[in-house]
Amino acid sequence: MKIGFGSDHAGFELKEFLRKHLEEAGYECVDYGTFSEDRVDYPDYGRIVGEKVASKEVDKGVLVCGTGIGISLAANKVKGVRAAVCSESYSAAMAAKHNNANIIAVGARVVGDEVAKLIVDTFLNSEFEGGRHADRVAKIDKIEENN
Ligand code: RB5
Repeated sequence: MKIGFGSDHAGFELKEFLRKHLEEAGYECVDYGTFSEDRVDYPDYGRIVGEKVASKEVDKGVLVCGTGIGISLAANKVKGVRAAVCSESYSAAMAAKHNNANIIAVGARVVGDEVAKLIVDTFLNSEFEGGRHADRVAKIDKIEENN
């Protein structure tokens, strides 16, 4: 599975930590930045990872900013993206199983490294259950189509 990563300056360190962890776990990881702690704007990184996920250049995305909120809001503006910001692993599992989320976002100022690792691992190891959940996700797609 190919995973795309993005963060702003606030999420840089945690993004590096999570990318190295997933590389060690055998995932193919593509890092879209940011590449230092110099101040940048989180929408730029939410957007690029959202676009790479939507175009299927990567299978799933991991986003990190201070709270995980701004970067996930930006990614969710890209058609086909379902980015879920999570601070614990139950929500991360449900985001995959019920919402078919294709991006997980975490807040570097909210969760510690190990909790973030558990959230991302849980998300990637959980599968969409389909069925009634697919009908509901299809209704989200319809909102994007304005009908
Ligand atoms: C940057 O200071 C901070 O606003 C950003 O990382 C994020 O938390 C926004 O949602």
